[in-house]
Amino acid sequence: MDFIEIVGNGPLHGEISISGAKNAALPILAATILAKGNVCVKNLPDVKDIKTFLKLLDLLGSTHEEVGDCFVINTTNLNSTTATYDIVKTMRASILVLGPLLARFGECRVSLPGGCAIGQRPVGLHLKALEQMGAVITIENGYIHATAPKGLHGKVIVFDKITVTGSENVIMAAALAKGTSKIVNVAKEPEVVQLCQMLQSAGVVIRGLGSDEIEIEGTDGRLLEIPDITVIPDRIEAGTYLCAAAISKSTLTLKKVQPLHLEAVIQKLEEMGLSFDIGSDTMTIYPVEKLKPVDIVTTEYPGFPTDMQAQFMALATQAEGVSVIEERLFENRLMHVSELQRLGAKIKLKGHTATVTGPCELQGSDVMATDLRASSALVLAGLIAKGITRVHRIYHLDRGYERLEEKLSNIGANITRGKE
Ligand code: UD1
Repeated sequence: MDFIEIVGNGPLHGEISISGAKNAALPILAATILAKGNVCVKNLPDVKDIKTFLKLLDLLGSTHEEVGDCFVINTTNLNSTTATYDIVKTMRASILVLGPLLARFGECRVSLPGGCAIGQRPVGLHLKALEQMGAVITIENGYIHATAPKGLHGKVIVFDKITVTGSENVIMAAALAKGTSKIVNVAKEPEVVQLCQMLQSAGVVIRGLGSDEIEIEGTDGRLLEIPDITVIPDRIEAGTYLCAAAISKSTLTLKKVQPLHLEAVIQKLEEMGLSFDIGSDTMTIYPVEKLKPVDIVTTEYPGFPTDMQAQFMALATQAEGVSVIEERLFENRLMHVSELQRLGAKIKLKGHTATVTGPCELQGSDVMATDLRASSALVLAGLIAKGITRVHRIYHLDRGYERLEEKLSNIGANITRGKE
């Protein structure tokens, strides 16, 4: 198992190029199941979750090859409709094959994703919506067994709660269903919007994109010819590096970024006193001597993302005063609190709310990554902690950050990878 070692040092300086968004690439890969012929995906991030998803598609019978800057995926000869436990247990987002497999083949089996480090993470809303469209779903031996004896039919689906992958599953199913679906309370995350744009580019009629309510005209089983698609920049990776600059009092330029997807994050950083130069696909963050405290409540897009909560908690340890951070989406997503405390952070936890008192001098120590974004928060803290910080279990980090050590060392961080 690998760990990351960081020796806290002075300000960083330079540029970081942002990779493709993992959470946009995953539904794009799932949507290739709906395609006829090759699909060329560009800007696919080289991270573990993407490798796992490609492995899952291969196990179903797809092929993939790299041709220049294209990742060409072909699902013409799929010969299995089962997503096995071995894969699903390593990556919950495997559930994204459920909608497209069912829509294309009228039958599939997907291992039921269990709980995970950040909470229970049920998929009941995915199943309920597909049932409304005509699916018959049973749970057998830990597998979701879905069939559509009379095909999938367009319906009005009202999500009780906004779910990102749930919306994506239903959108993909609706694209091949018979008739028009209306999805109310649909997720508006840029990753969901890009999936819809991919389907639109293949001729699927979708109305209301980017709003709470979309309508999709299904193709009644006709497979899609999908033009080349370029994965949008990763807003969470970008936000993490903005926090790296803010915590280390650095000037940093991000390239290949989409600032419009970062409005909530930029607003919170501005409240903390940081300033920006923002272009169409670049942005520079400038440091502030004294960070102001901030209050954060995580919520669905366009609100403040839960995937940035841990990184802001690391940052809040350096603010002059008390910050209050409330996690509203996942019941167990505050496990980084005790690890940040090991580094000397002053954080009080009550229920889902963390009260962070700063500024405090962090001291390097051994800490353990508990989930993907918590890992990056520990790296951020390590950048400014006195002495050596070793972040263990960084396989979490490798799931979603492309070449993190290289990107940070290129701007002057003292960061290396070691083996336990
Ligand atoms: C996606 C993202 C993840 C992000 C999360 C919230 C991917 C691959 N992952 O996860 O990085 O942190 O959105 O922005 O895109 N819920 C139910 N029943 C369901 C489904 C969800 O109650 O059937 C609840 C969840 O417990 C949670 C909330 O809905 O409280 C939002 O979860 P959801 O949007 O589904 O998260 P994911 O799609 O798994």
